Parts: sequence; structure tokens; C-alpha cells
Amino acid sequence: MKILVTGGCGFIGSAFVRMALARGAEVVNLDKLTYAGNPANVADVAGNPGYAFVHGDIADPDAVAGAIAGCDVVVNFAAESHVDRSILDPREFIRTDVEGTATLLAAARDAGVARFVQVSTDEVYGSIHDGSFRETDPLRPSSPYSASKAGGDMQVLAWHHTYGMDAVITRGSNTFGPRQYPEKLIPLFVTNAFEGLELPVYGDGMQVRDWIFVDDHCAGIWTAMRDGVAGEVYNVGGGHELPNIAITRRVIELTGCDPALVRHVTDRPGHDRRYSLDTTKLRGLGWTPARSFDEALGETVGWYRDRRDWWEPIKSGEYRAYYEAQYGGR
Ligand code: NAD
Ligand code: TYD
Repeated sequence: MKILVTGGCGFIGSAFVRMALARGAEVVNLDKLTYAGNPANVADVAGNPGYAFVHGDIADPDAVAGAIAGCDVVVNFAAESHVDRSILDPREFIRTDVEGTATLLAAARDAGVARFVQVSTDEVYGSIHDGSFRETDPLRPSSPYSASKAGGDMQVLAWHHTYGMDAVITRGSNTFGPRQYPEKLIPLFVTNAFEGLELPVYGDGMQVRDWIFVDDHCAGIWTAMRDGVAGEVYNVGGGHELPNIAITRRVIELTGCDPALVRHVTDRPGHDRRYSLDTTKLRGLGWTPARSFDEALGETVGWYRDRRDWWEPIKSGEYRAYYEAQYGGR
């Protein structure tokens, strides 16, 4: 099996590339190398004979047509993925997450690929007070990011309905692990803790997220790719719900930083209060998350402790400009 993985130089995509190669697939990795795309994330597989890298944009039909030739399956990770950046400027989100997905779908149809897997997010459902979202629930995205991802999902479902495209969608929950760009909660707080910088908790910090370790998320995507039913959606959630303030406390314990670094700052506009996924459907295909949250978080903090060479260069240049726009005077 030859898989076109888009966004394979990002956090989750690079873990999936590694998993796919280990499971005997060939991989073509199409990545635009935005600020979040890092060749170092796949440096360990660069020499693998089953692996090829193509530098290109999923919204560019020519780049996509070249990369997709000979591939059996497309797994679309490529996206602008950070809510706070989408609030600052949503344009690239619409371009990549909606237009890029539609461009990929057209190329997949033209190339006759057997299956299209759209990697989506629980955020398309919006916030839930009680209980957990099922795949049949309506989409009520709150942020420009989640609205763009919902637009991508709608394109995929329309292509299945209209053209008979064999497609499945996965909706993953908040993911953590090694190689996550230090703008998301866990890697931001862990690296700030190691640097003795503030831990900026939005609002009261009682917002709840459903956390999943990156390899468990990838295994869920693999299961949906292999065994999912065409036209269906599969939730991929870790089932480990914690308020942000509890995550913050764990980070303080694991890094040994000064608890006085915590600072409650102005809340995110339109901030979703709680995410929670019902994963019965994917579990019915035999998938289950393998890793305990505490063990996986400890391993993740250990990785950032050991790999300052990975994140210190990132936290300069463009990152500093973003950090100032996002947190300066907050
Ligand atoms: P990331 O931001 O770490 O990586 C995104 C990758 O996509 C980067 O390598 C980037 O260079 C590439 N990319 C961006 N625009 C592109 C374009 N136009 N053409 C080609 N490549 C492009 O993202 P991530 O956290 O690994 O997320 C991967 C996917 O999983 C996304 O679709 C995201 O919506 C989804 N997801 C993420 C989470 C999470 O917690 N991180 C949870 C659920 C779903
Ligand atoms: P994030 O990692 O950005 O993921 P998402 O917004 O996609 O869920 O944020 C996770 C939670 O942490 C979310 O409720 C926002 C909160 N948060 C903070 O309190 N401070 C921060 O600096 C960041 C980046 C996030």
C-alpha cells in the first residue's frame, strides 16, 4: 500500500508517517513546510527506501497531482491547526483547511485513489456541557479554525455523496506528545516552565479538554483508514478529560518549576468550555487507546527536557512575533 500523507512534517502527521512505515506501507509526504512543518520531525525516516518527501501545497493542483500519482490512499493531515492563530487571522485556515481539502479531493478522484481519509477534530462539534459528542451530532464550530475544519469535513462528505468517493473522516481530540509545536497548551507550558517563563492560563482555567497521546490518535486513524466504512465519521478520543488548570499543575510537578509562574490572563474570545467524545463507534472496529495519560505525559515532558535542541531554535524568529501578538499586554 502506498499512502500520500499530507502535513507529514507536522506533529501528528510525522508520528503517522513513522507508524505507516513501521507497518509496511510506502509513504509520500506532501508538506508545504509552514512555520509548523519541521523536516527534523521525519529526519529518522528520510533514508527509508519506502519514504519520499515532496515540498508542496495541498491547495496547488499541480503539486498535488504530482505527489498523488501511484498512491492508493490519501491521509490528509495538512492544516493550519492553532485556534489562537485563527483568531488573529483566519485567511490561511480557509485556504488550506477548506480549499486545500477540496483540491486534494479533486486530485484523488482524478487519480482513482481507493480511499481518502480526512483527519479532522472534535472542535467541529463545538462545546458540550454534559455527556459526549457522537458522530451523528450536528456541527457547531466556534472558532475560525474549527469552522474551517468543518468546511473541510463538509467537502469530504459531499464528494462521497456526489461522486461516490470512498472517504472516511476521523475527529480526534486534543493530542499531546513529542514534536508538538510549542504554541499549544502542553508544549507551550512545558517549554516555558523549563525556561522559567510565565504559564498564561486563559480565564479561570476550568475549560475541559479530552486528551489523547499522539500514537493512540495515529492508531485510531490507521484503524479508520483500514476498516472504516466509506462515508462514515469516527471519533478518536482519549477519554481523559481534565481542566486546563489541572494540566498546568501536572506540568509544574513534572518540570519542577516555580508555581508562581502561573498567571491567569484574559480569556480567549469565544472559548469553548468543554470537549468530550463518545468513541464507541471506533472501538467497535477494535481500536482502544493504549497509553495511560500520566505515563504518556511524563514521557512527553521527558522528551522536551532532553530535546532542547528541537525546541529552542523554534522559539525564536517568527515564533517571537507570534508570541508578542498573542500574549503581549494580555
Ligand atoms: P501541525 O500544525 O503540527 O502540522 C501541520 C502540518 O501541515 C505542517 O507540517 C505544515 O507544514 C503542513 N501544512 C500546513 N498547510 C499546508 C498546505 N497548505 N499544504 C501542505 N502542507 C501544509 O498540526 P497537527 O497538530 O499535527 O495536526 C494535524 C492534523 O490533525 C490537522 O488537520 C489538525 O486539524 C488535526 N487535529 C489536531 C489535533 C491536535 O490536538 N493537534 C487534534 C485533532 C485533530
Ligand atoms: P490548545 O492547546 O490551543 O488547543 P485547543 O484550543 O485546540 O483546544 O488549548 C488547549 C486549552 O488550553 C484551551 O482551553 C485553551 C487553553 N490555553 C491556555 O489556557 N493558555 C494558553 O497559552 C494556550 C495556548 C491554551
